[in-house]
Amino acid sequence: MEDDRIVTAHLMMEDQAVEYSLRPRYLAEYIGQEQVKDNLKIYIEAAKMRREPLDHVLLYGPPGLGKTTLSNIIANELGVNLRTTSGPAIERPGDLAAILTNLQENDVLFIDEIHRLHRTVEEVLYPAMEDFALDFIIGKGPSARSVRLDLPKFTLIGATTRAGLLSAPLRDRFGVVSRLEFYNIDELAYIVSRTADILGVGIVGEASVEVARRSRGTPRIANRLLKRVRDYAQVRGDGIITDEIAHDSLERIQVDPMGLDAIDHKMLRSMIQNYRGGPVGLDTIAASIGEESQTIEDVYEPYLMQIGFLQRTPRGRVVSPLAYRHLGLPIPDNNV
Ligand code: ADE
Repeated sequence: MEDDRIVTAHLMMEDQAVEYSLRPRYLAEYIGQEQVKDNLKIYIEAAKMRREPLDHVLLYGPPGLGKTTLSNIIANELGVNLRTTSGPAIERPGDLAAILTNLQENDVLFIDEIHRLHRTVEEVLYPAMEDFALDFIIGKGPSARSVRLDLPKFTLIGATTRAGLLSAPLRDRFGVVSRLEFYNIDELAYIVSRTADILGVGIVGEASVEVARRSRGTPRIANRLLKRVRDYAQVRGDGIITDEIAHDSLERIQVDPMGLDAIDHKMLRSMIQNYRGGPVGLDTIAASIGEESQTIEDVYEPYLMQIGFLQRTPRGRVVSPLAYRHLGLPIPDNNV
């Protein structure tokens, strides 16, 4: 299962308390995503100068890159309250109406997994986003009439792993659309050092880079791996995370030097052995390794594509020569 992996980018129970205390609270503390940060800084300052709510913001990209963290930061920087919910948690239009009517002027409403909003709920959101109003129909038949209720002005921050799944009318109502990118090794190493500092654990030499390299470009994974490495340092060493401790502990939990785990290996090997490296369809890959197509598309593929191990073609997915080399397998003629 995807969520049993040490390298899952999804939030796990054990991450929650730690993520909260580690989370940067202001833009100045937030590492990486420079372009997104630079833009937000200007929009936030302008909104504050005008004493108006910030435009609605859509944050999209793979899980674990800091969408929730950024929304907390935006509310902090604006000096307003943050109300957090998620697409599937809002079951009926009335649930959303209750949330919206309880906001205060210029507050931030964060809706995670916004691509999973029910259609009926989404329709309530349109006039709320556009005119800060709720429309009700009262009565039935010829005597039915529409009543409009004004809402406090607010900023909606929507987060999704799949911007493509958003309906066009919803997507068009966001003034700011920002895509979060995978982090580079330097950024991740910096995040690992920062986290080690907060946890009060020593990390020396190149150990933070070793953890960073195996974190799939994802801070959530970097912080989780750091905790496992810390355990190992405590039990097998003297509590300080050295290069050797970092290397040995990460080898033990089978996260390879590129951050691939047993499931990535299984998927790539299955594509190579059963389908000559592709092109092979997503559903076929999913069936052959017993995972859901959606999980492969949202979680495994983005990173494998980012590092150039997998390519998407109109005829299906193809394993690249880089991946063959990494796995130590001979590159077939049709793939060079
Ligand atoms: N912890 C997790 N993500 C972070 C980031 N982008 N900057 C600083 N600390 C983090």
